Amino acid sequence: MMTSKKTCFRLLCSASLTFFSILPVTCRAASADPLGYQATHRGDNGHPAAVAPHAMVVSAQHLATDAGVEILRAGGNAVDAAVAVGYALAVVYPAAGNIGGGGFATIRLPNGQTHFIDFREHAPLAATSTMYQDKDGNVDKAASVEGWRAVGVPGTVAGLDALERKWGRLGLTRVMAPAIRLAEEGFHLEVDDVDLLNSARDRLARDSYAKKIFLNPDGSALEVGDTLVQKDLANTLRRVAQRGDKGFYEGETAQEIVAASRRGGGILTLKDFTSYKIRALEPLHCNYRGYRIDTAPPPSGGGVAICEILNILSAYDLKQIGLRSVAGVKLQTEAMRHAYSDRRDLGDPAFVKNPIDHLLDPSYAAAIRAGFRRDRAIDSASLLPGEALPQSDAFVTQPAHEKHETTQFCAADRSGIAVSVTYTLNGWYGAHVVGGRTGIVMNDEMDDFSVKPGVPNMYGIVGSRANAIAPGKTPLSSMSPTIISRDGKLVMAIGSPGGSRIPTVVLNVVLGVIDGGMDIQQAINQPRIHEQWMPNALEVEPGALTSHVSTVLQAHGYQIKEQPQYWGLAQGILFGRPRLDAPVTGFAYGGSDQRHAGGLARGL
Ligand code: DON
Repeated sequence: MMTSKKTCFRLLCSASLTFFSILPVTCRAASADPLGYQATHRGDNGHPAAVAPHAMVVSAQHLATDAGVEILRAGGNAVDAAVAVGYALAVVYPAAGNIGGGGFATIRLPNGQTHFIDFREHAPLAATSTMYQDKDGNVDKAASVEGWRAVGVPGTVAGLDALERKWGRLGLTRVMAPAIRLAEEGFHLEVDDVDLLNSARDRLARDSYAKKIFLNPDGSALEVGDTLVQKDLANTLRRVAQRGDKGFYEGETAQEIVAASRRGGGILTLKDFTSYKIRALEPLHCNYRGYRIDTAPPPSGGGVAICEILNILSAYDLKQIGLRSVAGVKLQTEAMRHAYSDRRDLGDPAFVKNPIDHLLDPSYAAAIRAGFRRDRAIDSASLLPGEALPQSDAFVTQPAHEKHETTQFCAADRSGIAVSVTYTLNGWYGAHVVGGRTGIVMNDEMDDFSVKPGVPNMYGIVGSRANAIAPGKTPLSSMSPTIISRDGKLVMAIGSPGGSRIPTVVLNVVLGVIDGGMDIQQAINQPRIHEQWMPNALEVEPGALTSHVSTVLQAHGYQIKEQPQYWGLAQGILFGRPRLDAPVTGFAYGGSDQRHAGGLARGL
């Protein structure tokens, strides 16, 4: 990781100084925390959580975090900061930050009310359930992940616009200023930026607009120290700043994207854009050891999985048992296995009835617990597909691959506002096509549909008819932006990319904080465990289990797969105290996952 960007400011003052006289504190900063927190409690890999008295922003790209802090400094609240980060990531983290994709936002207001905005992509109106199959039913796998036919109707601008209009203080023009500046003037590429660009170089080179933006004229890759300028994107962002979502869904921007789609064999029409609407949904919520968890409802399967797992685990004293003891790992594994076996039957709530009440009923959790065996792993194959819904198709899954794609950011302020956003282009750089002169990288979210029952998507997930393609429908997601509170007070905001592993990344962090007594950075750093029903394997990051624990688990029939690579890229904020068992400070503590360098937690 380059160190130059992570300039460290020492907090020069006590908490009694005014809001704006306090310099920002980064992951590496010393602290004015009244408990002397950073001196004594460091993250496992040496990164302490960032700490600040008023507000915190975390994202996967340091310049985007800085954009959020700039907006806080200008008098914005956490919503303003989050919207600023969302637009800035579209410029400085084009692999996953976006306005050509979609996502989810969970919001908590000072009065404790929580909201959920679904701004995920929709299938174009001309989409059909068999659009990725030939006449013999063979699936064209490339078509749902690459090129214009893979593109869903983007929702990000409508989502961020709604956030700003409903709960922001400064207005779009101000909060989008950092993003427009970064696009117009450019920013210096660092190692992590160049790594991402290089990972997609060949595919970006196939699209003339993408090539012009992300490669040198001779086709060679941009290098560390080069400046990435995106004038077309700056103009597009200006139109949005001036006209709100109309600057995207109507007029020049939409027309240009539709024209590029037509030229590239896609099916997007202007009507897809003018008819796009976000959904304001009730967050899914559950309780765990006195904490209220607000998370993503369908069309995400992620929140359902998180709550089902927490419901199952709530009957055990995991603090006493130990999160990574033999018994602790078994309980988590079996809970994950069941939750993932149930996830398959979920879909867009506008199209299917999701059995949420059943899946989150405490008596269902009790019935699952009753099937646990003390010294024997449950066979995944014994959990029948479709227990929850009668019309399920058969499922097969393949191992998920390591992914960081998609991205997470959070902002929280001392008024009690918290925002947790996960948004995505799906794969890195989405479909690897740019919407003509708009400079917008387009998503490949159509692959999150079940393109054909029984055929896995890029994350090894296979869905049922509940997630079949239909015009205007939203594909099932795993994204799980989550906010936790207790007794009416904000406690935590968290989320992560990771494809099918997103729910268990969030779960690992939540359990680390609530049951493991960890600070936010430690809980993020903690090596993760994951089980997704099929394949029948407990996947572990290096160092997650001791050899003793592994040996005993294997003797009990658990198939342990240590993955060579890490997964997820969580970003989180713990509010009020550094750990849940520490005295209250009222400060904000930010943790940014360093599994991929470049992210930053910074406060004010
Ligand atoms: O919505 C979803 O679940 C996926 N499109 C998210 C993709 C993702 O997290 C990729 N990163 N690993």
